[in-house]
Amino acid sequence: MPQVSFAADIKPLSRAIDISHMKRFNVELDNYTYMSNPNNATQVLAALSPHDGEPPTMPPGGPYWNEAQLALFLQWQNDGYQP
Ligand code: HEM
Repeated sequence: MPQVSFAADIKPLSRAIDISHMKRFNVELDNYTYMSNPNNATQVLAALSPHDGEPPTMPPGGPYWNEAQLALFLQWQNDGYQP
């Protein structure tokens, strides 16, 4: 599989409402520079992932990302944050 790309694969996973609501909290889901910072990407993935049987914290109340979407995000990180 070609390397996972932010523009083609990752950015489209966030809805317009996610992007606009999170800007208020300085979480820039549509911004490659923000998202390709490993600390930011790791926090975003943690917010989207279930923990200890609890649902993800983000987006509040869902719809939550499925396993394939979470795996794609992790692959993007492992591929070295391709734009
Ligand atoms: C670093 C990661 C994130 C942090 C720290 C964070 C933090 C927050 C906080 C503090 C709120 C407001 C309080 C609340 O409703 O719980 C919020 C709301 C929200 N977040 Fe996030 N969030 C993160 C990632 C995300 C992601 C990845 C998405 C979706 C792809 C998302 C979607 C939303 C939405 C839709 C709201 C609803 C706001 C509203 O109803 O007005 N967030 N987030």
